[in-house]
Amino acid sequence: MNIKIYDSVDLLYKEAAAFYKEKISHQPNMILGLATGTTPIPLYKKLIKAYKAGELSFKGITAYNLDEYVGLEKGHPASYYFFMRDNLFNHVDIDLNNTFIPDGSIEPNEAIKKYQEQLDTVTIDIQLLGLGSNGHIGFNEPGTPFESHTHMVTLAEKTRKDNARLFEKLEDVPHTAVTMGIKDIMRAREVVLIATGKNKAQAVFGMIKGEISESLPASVLQNHPNVHVFLDQDAASLLLNK
Ligand code: F6R
Repeated sequence: MNIKIYDSVDLLYKEAAAFYKEKISHQPNMILGLATGTTPIPLYKKLIKAYKAGELSFKGITAYNLDEYVGLEKGHPASYYFFMRDNLFNHVDIDLNNTFIPDGSIEPNEAIKKYQEQLDTVTIDIQLLGLGSNGHIGFNEPGTPFESHTHMVTLAEKTRKDNARLFEKLEDVPHTAVTMGIKDIMRAREVVLIATGKNKAQAVFGMIKGEISESLPASVLQNHPNVHVFLDQDAASLLLNK
C-alpha cells in the first residue's frame, strides 16, 4: 500500500485531485469506479473546478458506482443515483450513457444480475473508495466473503446511523442496499482510498496494520498490488501513535 498522510484535509484533496487529473490526462477514456458519501465530495468539487478551468475532460470516461440503496426512486435526494448527478455528473462533460450504478428502484435480484453483467464486461482502471467506520468498503459490511460479487446487503445499524444525516430521520434510512462485491473491487487495476477524521482511525489502523480478515473488509486491500491511501492526521492518528 502506498500510504500518504497529509497535514491538512485541503492538501489531501488537492493531491487526490492532482492524481486523478494526471491519470485522466494520460488515459482520457479510462473506466472509473466511483463512490458516494461525504468522503468524495471535496474531490468531486476539485475535479469539477478543473473541468471548468479547461484542465480536464470527462468526455471519454466511463463510470461505475459502488452501491445504491434498495427501494429509493432515482429522484430521491438520498439515492446515490441522485447524488452522483448532483455532486459530479451534472457539472462535467461525462456522457450519462456511460455512467452505471446499481438500480435501487427495481427488484433487487434483477438489479444485481443487471449490474454484475455490466461490470463483467469491463476492468475498472481506478476504483475510488471511502471507508466505513466499521471497515466496510462499498456496502460490504464486516463478515462479507472476500469472494463476493454484486449482492444485496443488510446495512449494519452503525452504517444506517452514520448515513442518517442524509435523510430526514433514522427510520427513513433503507435497511438494504445493493453493492459491488469485494471480488469486484479487488479486480480494479488501481484503488484509491480516502479517509479523514477521527471516527475512521480505528478502521484505518485495522485496514493497514490489522490481520487480513473478513471482519474488517478493507483489510483485503493489503492483498491488492496497487492501492493509494490518502489520510489526514486524524484518520492516521492510531498509525502514528503505535
Ligand atoms: C459509498 C460507499 C461507502 C462509503 C463509506 C464512507 O459509495 O460505498 O463505503 O464510502 O460508508 O462514507 P462517508 O464518506 O460518508 O464517511
